[in-house]
Amino acid sequence: MTMDLSIFNRFAITKKGGDIIFCEYEPGDAFYLIQSGQVKIVKIVGELEKTLDILNPGEFFGEMALLEEAPRSATTIALTDLKLLEFNRANFEVLMQGQPQIVLNLLKLFSKRIYDQKRRFMILNFGDDHQARVADVFLMLEENQTRTGDAEDVTRVFANSIEDIANWAGLSVQKVTEVLKQFVNQRRVELNQGKIVVKNINDFTRLVKSKRQE
Ligand code: CMP
Repeated sequence: MTMDLSIFNRFAITKKGGDIIFCEYEPGDAFYLIQSGQVKIVKIVGELEKTLDILNPGEFFGEMALLEEAPRSATTIALTDLKLLEFNRANFEVLMQGQPQIVLNLLKLFSKRIYDQKRRFMILNFGDDHQARVADVFLMLEENQTRTGDAEDVTRVFANSIEDIANWAGLSVQKVTEVLKQFVNQRRVELNQGKIVVKNINDFTRLVKSKRQE
């Protein structure tokens, strides 16, 4: 369902690609709805910038500081030129009361974030077992993919970058590259034109299950 947000035009703001919208730990009194462009959500861990998510039109950010009355939990950067709607606390409440579709979208967003955090925790729980961490990232990506085609086919092709996998696995790109090489040597994975081909997804399910029972 698309929402008619034209009545909110007075809340429209623009940002240029590369602009920081707000920084982690700042106090926050506004939340944003993306009308066009992409926003990168990052956390700075030591010297590293960790991407938590990339948001697209129709998605929200900045709601946590507003709802929890806490500082910003992450930094947000305009990946491209942006058109945003910016709501402060008072407007936010009006919006919630008048736009049930937005409330529904927010609930969906929260449940996805809770799911993502639970899933990330399960992956990180494998500790030093880097193979299990990476295999479980593929299982998580598989859970989020809508599948079409042959239900019997156990091959899965992932177009995700190694940086993506590394982010989810909580490992460096170098460590993930090493693990993928091990998987290639064990004939579990093939690297094909920038894509990662898992030859038998059930094999990863078994691997992760057996490690979880250890
Ligand atoms: P807030 O804490 O106000 O500011 C940072 C915003 O980034 C936060 O609200 C959420 O909207 C968003 N955010 C925080 N953590 C994540 C995450 N793990 N995935 C996606 N978005 C997030």
